[in-house]
Amino acid sequence: MSEDFTALPGFSRRDGELFCEDLNLRKLADQFGTPLYVYSREALKTALESWLRGISGTKHRVFYAMKANSNLALLKFFRDAGIGFDIVSPGELKRALMVGAKGEDIVYSGVGKSREDIRTALRAGIGCFNVESIPELDRINEVALQEKLLAPISVRVNPDVDAKTHPYISTGLKNNKFGVAYDQTVALYRHAASLPGVQISGIDMHIGSQITELEPFVHAADKIFDIVEQLAQHGITLDHLDFGGGLGVRYTDETPPSAETLVKAVSQKASERGFADLPIYFEPGRSLVARAGVLLTTVEYLKPTQAKNFMIVDAAMNDMVRPTLYQAQMPLVNCTEREQSQQWDVVGPVCETGDFLARSIELAAQPGDVLAMTGAGAYGMSMASNYNSRGRAAEVLVSGSRAWLIRRRETIEELTALENTVPNEAFM
Ligand code: LLP
Repeated sequence: MSEDFTALPGFSRRDGELFCEDLNLRKLADQFGTPLYVYSREALKTALESWLRGISGTKHRVFYAMKANSNLALLKFFRDAGIGFDIVSPGELKRALMVGAKGEDIVYSGVGKSREDIRTALRAGIGCFNVESIPELDRINEVALQEKLLAPISVRVNPDVDAKTHPYISTGLKNNKFGVAYDQTVALYRHAASLPGVQISGIDMHIGSQITELEPFVHAADKIFDIVEQLAQHGITLDHLDFGGGLGVRYTDETPPSAETLVKAVSQKASERGFADLPIYFEPGRSLVARAGVLLTTVEYLKPTQAKNFMIVDAAMNDMVRPTLYQAQMPLVNCTEREQSQQWDVVGPVCETGDFLARSIELAAQPGDVLAMTGAGAYGMSMASNYNSRGRAAEVLVSGSRAWLIRRRETIEELTALENTVPNEAFM
């Protein structure tokens, strides 16, 4: 299951050593310690360029779904490249504003927006709320009226299309919590049209994540255009269509279409259906960052047992939860070339059987070696936790022969800083 390391943009093997651009990964591990996330700026650029090629010459727009990786340095990179952001919380809104994004360059997704969330976004001049239910629509209207503002909205439609991905990251089936049931959409728009606090702006969908085929996207687009036609019959016109994120990446042997191919296929469908002029928004997360990052971890112990060989490393499920949460297969490569591989379960120090980075993989490594998990740029650090009172990893951004520490390692003092003890006398 190991993808060829040298096939990753921004990464290479030189004289047997692994490099991120012009920096030796093992040396970065020595310098900054492990577990360590390392990102290649060159790789971010490569991923972004595919999207930009797709939309060039059109009115389409890209909004980076920052839940995939919300480090400010990465956000700044995307902001400077001129793309917008897809957010799901006031925390993410704050991050977007911190790197200089304007409200109008931000779309707000998510099923559970509180009144306060809505108010904060309205005051920031949010570009569009992607609405997921009738009560949410009514709430947005109410808060907008209180604020004396007009809330731009899209309705997120659940097109009931199988994205053929892991059930936990499939979102466009009718038994998922997301979006408005397909056959209720038109009624919801008609209701929206009657509300004085909202302004109908677009229509939205997002069918899942790590989708590796074109067909579900094109099929879902077709179904959305059916609705756009019906809306027009009711005199409701839209200024954009939001296509969501979901484009998959190659972790091991997947062969997803390129972003450029996806954008062109969707644009083609739009033209066929007579909507060539309608701007399409895309909300990619993973496809912009996954392959730009590696997670470096040091081998602590080798523990062969009668049943299995365990390789115990210093990164754990709190640093990278994807293998245990989604059975994700993410390649691990030794930064030092060694002979005689064996089969190992690569596990972390956390006290759970589910704490593994990889199971039954062939690897040759010794204690002290540094392993690189590839494809770790998306949903790695952003899903990290402090479980077992472990401080979260540090993050480094590399460009050419320079490395910037873009997030330092958390200290134990920081982990406990928000807590208070209660003296026993207080209970008496
Ligand atoms: N837009 C919406 C409304 C979303 O819910 C998501 C992701 C995206 C865009 C970005 O999707 P992407 O392009 O990254 O596939 N933690 C999981 C993935 C969860 C995706 C959640 N929503 C994983 O590690 O596989």
